[in-house]
Amino acid sequence: MNITSSRRLDRAPPAPSPEVDAAAPEGRDSLRTQAREHLADGAVTAGYGAKRPQVLALLDAALATELVCMLRYRRHHFMARGAQAKAVADEFLVHSVQEQKHADWLAERIAQLGGAPDFSPDSLLRRSHAQYVEGATLADMIGENLVAERIAIDSYRSFIAMLQGDDPTTRRLLEAILATEEEHADELAALLHGLPAAWVERRAHPSSRHGG
Ligand SMILES: [Fe+2]
Ligand SMILES: [Fe+2]
Repeated sequence: MNITSSRRLDRAPPAPSPEVDAAAPEGRDSLRTQAREHLADGAVTAGYGAKRPQVLALLDAALATELVCMLRYRRHHFMARGAQAKAVADEFLVHSVQEQKHADWLAERIAQLGGAPDFSPDSLLRRSHAQYVEGATLADMIGENLVAERIAIDSYRSFIAMLQGDDPTTRRLLEAILATEEEHADELAALLHGLPAAWVERRAHPSSRHGG
């Protein structure tokens, strides 16, 4: 995301204001004055405590990751073959739809913070944490999706830890996404466990894999 070209980031953000006591008359007056300043910043007020360019860059990487995951699951939904493929293909589609929803939430938050969500297919893989691996077999597909989920889980955890209390809205959003990614990983691990051992064993040999 080219955040430097963002319309609302072309000047230094207002310095975070000290905590105000909203119950006191002078605190209330201060809040009212601050709210009238920099109206074009929308939801980003003087009290926004996080480093906005850094948050936007991390949100951009998360958006790219969700889009790559959505595409990979969608491909796997249509390409799943074999005796146990139907249930797995159905699960891939459910995950794909949920990754798209995550992408939409992240894009909405990027726009709220004055950035511009980047959906450019040219740079998606470069900006994504997770990879797009097509996979040759059902075990490959499940395994690659599980790897991608585990990458997403760790990246969301570190993002949440970095934010601490500085941007509670973004933090809550990331926590909600993280919970779903953990469910995804759990479901994929169960699917992998349910496959015949020989299928999973074959996945361990690089010659049986087709990277995407
Ligand atoms: Fe997701
Ligand atoms: Fe996921």
